[in-house]
Amino acid sequence: MEELKRKALFNENGDIELGKRRMINGNTTNLNDFNNMKYTWVSDWYRQAMNNFWIPEEINLSQDIKDYKNLSVEEKTAYDKILSFLVFLDSLQTANLPNIGEYITANEVNLCLTIQAYQEAIHSQSYGYILDTICSPEERTKILYQWKDDPLLLARNKFIGDQYNDFYNNRTKYNLVKTAIANYILEGIYFYSGFMFFYSLGRIGKMPGTMQEIRYINRDENTHLWLFRSIILELKKEEPEIFTKENIDYFRDMIKQGAEEEIKWARYAIGDSIKGLTMNMVEDYIKYIGNLRCKGLGFEPIYEGYEEEVESMKWVKEYSDPNSIKTDFFEAKVSAYAKSTVIEDDL
Ligand SMILES: [Fe+2]
Ligand SMILES: [Fe+2]
Repeated sequence: MEELKRKALFNENGDIELGKRRMINGNTTNLNDFNNMKYTWVSDWYRQAMNNFWIPEEINLSQDIKDYKNLSVEEKTAYDKILSFLVFLDSLQTANLPNIGEYITANEVNLCLTIQAYQEAIHSQSYGYILDTICSPEERTKILYQWKDDPLLLARNKFIGDQYNDFYNNRTKYNLVKTAIANYILEGIYFYSGFMFFYSLGRIGKMPGTMQEIRYINRDENTHLWLFRSIILELKKEEPEIFTKENIDYFRDMIKQGAEEEIKWARYAIGDSIKGLTMNMVEDYIKYIGNLRCKGLGFEPIYEGYEEEVESMKWVKEYSDPNSIKTDFFEAKVSAYAKSTVIEDDL
């Protein structure tokens, strides 16, 4: 297995020349030089991430307190399970990103990973804020740890957790790429049916505060997807020996497994009992998303016939894509942070 060098910390002999900078195995000084970037997409990414700044407590949850008590059994089950799943994912992200950063030798990319880790911490805290507001401390704890006792929920988390553990326990180039692909799946497929569920609740006027929190989170996750897609594409150029046909087939299989898990999970947690959202809609949409993720990395699609966005799910974009937001939702914040403008529109 190809050797992967841990990045130096204080390194007075690090390279300054841009031509020598590499995503991994470079000789970095760790100096954050914003004027000399090899990976120039970082400038847009950084600006976007800064413009996305938000605070969970700024969102009013008073209607959610009333709504939560009146959710149907199916809605409440889905709500609790999905929150339990999301809080775990964001927590795992917060813990794992620094492990990746230890091996990234482009300081500008490390800046992005640090900001991402900070945002993941805010996301996990936002779920805590929601639960603290809408239910009792006992219920909150039950929901936060539901993934430990629900076998299906645990199995889901294991798929990503195991890939992360592979890299954590054995730091090879191949495992680093695998962990980056797992990240890309988590950011680009795993969140989607969950987000969709909250948007569909919001569409029928339920839990509007939760939906707003999710929209902010979704906007951040779009940038995380953008970041990991860029890292993987740079690694494809710099480390072509990792992207053999055999390995690409494996990575595509990972994406497919991620999509299949997402569909299975949606069937279990959401099913057909939520108004305005059917399993067929969710399945078609996840397959389309799976293909889109393959395309993003230059891989062949995994589902034939799912190349176009499903007509019945076009409304999701109104909520998840800041560029197509028809309402002035992102203007409605109490503080005047900069409005988000730049975002990759092909994610
Ligand atoms: Fe997150
Ligand atoms: Fe994320």
